[in-house]
Amino acid sequence: MTGPVLVTGAASGIGRAVCQRLARDGRAVALLDRDAALLDETRRSLGDARTIAIPVDVSQAAAMEAAVAQAAEALGGLQGVVTSAGIFDPGDLRPLADVEVDAFEHVLAVNLRGTFLAVKYALPHLTAGGGAIVTVASTAGLRGHGFGAGYTASKGGVVALTRLLAMQYGEQGVRANCVCPGFTDTPLTGGVQHDPEFARRLTSGIPMRRIAQPDEIAGVACHLLGPDASYVNGQIIAVDGGATVV
Ligand code: NAI
Repeated sequence: MTGPVLVTGAASGIGRAVCQRLARDGRAVALLDRDAALLDETRRSLGDARTIAIPVDVSQAAAMEAAVAQAAEALGGLQGVVTSAGIFDPGDLRPLADVEVDAFEHVLAVNLRGTFLAVKYALPHLTAGGGAIVTVASTAGLRGHGFGAGYTASKGGVVALTRLLAMQYGEQGVRANCVCPGFTDTPLTGGVQHDPEFARRLTSGIPMRRIAQPDEIAGVACHLLGPDASYVNGQIIAVDGGATVV
């Protein structure tokens, strides 16, 4: 598969690195994100690649249906999807009894519903000629995670949805796999990784003793999208320096 790929959360961090990698590999890219200014910046970083940038909130069904249709129309179909849009919400990062209900629902709306919507509307294009889906969950969806009720539930949900997709669409030539990053150096984490004491505690639980760079997550996502992974389906792959084995 070498056709156009739709990427959500394309404006920053892991999604941006995925777009840059895809563009270097000569693939057309539809960039979707709610942040129009950053989206424009990312699109410009892709040079001469064939691209379309669409500002959209991934949690909004009608807007996502229109955005996916616009992307497929502009690029002549879709053969890949990467769902990287995701958030933390301060109101969700508390002991569960203190989590704000709105914050819990907000996180689920972006991380889980947003993944569902992107895939739902892209699937008719993918089944038309074969394709691949890569969802971005988190190690929080794989093992116990001490904070973020909505975040953890959303990422567990993304893992489960990916397995369902692999079972439902494999026969139609669509593969679905999930990347679970460990702590990665992006704006999402608010720079806490730059605090030396936090960094020391964090990396002591990672066999490689360092956090990930966005390119290292993007490389695995793009491998899963491409022809070298043509028989990989329904896999949940931690990209975490070995953190989930300890
Ligand atoms: P980031 O904050 O750099 O990028 C996330 C992008 O999603 C931003 O461009 C943001 O504008 C976009 N976005 C947020 N809400 C949106 C919405 N409602 N509609 C459209 N776009 C929206 O974060 P990062 O780190 O690149 O995160 C990407 C994915 O990786 C997320 O799903 C995150 O949960 C996951 N992840 C990140 C980890 C990390 O340590 N950075 C660790 C594990 C998973």
